[in-house]
Amino acid sequence: MEKKFGATTLESVLGDITRERVDAIVNAANESLLGGGGVDGAIHRAGGPAILEECRKLNGCDTGDAKITTGGRLPAKYVVHTVGPVYRDGNHGEPGLLASCYRRSLEVALENGAKTIAFPAISCGIYGYPIPEAARIAVETVADFVRANEGIERVRFVLLSEDVYRPFETALAKL
Ligand code: AR6
Repeated sequence: MEKKFGATTLESVLGDITRERVDAIVNAANESLLGGGGVDGAIHRAGGPAILEECRKLNGCDTGDAKITTGGRLPAKYVVHTVGPVYRDGNHGEPGLLASCYRRSLEVALENGAKTIAFPAISCGIYGYPIPEAARIAVETVADFVRANEGIERVRFVLLSEDVYRPFETALAKL
């Protein structure tokens, strides 16, 4: 599904984010920025050791914030590393922190001249965020950002499996 907001297109696709030919892909990392499982592991495996070398110099990252490295061997020029909240019950600041991940990732990407950006479903794996709610926060936060900021041409939500892809399609349709 595709939706246009002024000069920006938002779209959801099924796929592996490490194969994305965009200016920046976003990594769902942890506060250490030193690697992990899930999409984080896939990005470091596909991008090679140069990404981890750069991450070591960043001194970690707070939950809700984002930091950037090059893309190493990935087709993408940059990786924006953000840290989603671990989901407890929704009453521990999770919605605000998740929205902050999307906003800060877009800010950092834009500061580095990225015009095309791909996001995974941040916090929707190991961190346990309920997917329909996370999808709604993701698409609404990105839509608000591109309405308020010029320079981003395309934002792709790249979802690995149908169970995550479908709620993102639904959330985009409702925008
Ligand atoms: N392309 C797109 N999406 C993917 C890929 C891929 N190659 N691989 C996995 N996903 P998760 P989190 C999806 O667990 O919940 C790491 O250990 C996956 O299906 O990667 O934010 C970090 O170091 C799910 O829908 O991230 C942290 O410790 C989504 O990406 C912790 O996991 C996010 O799942 C972060 O947990």
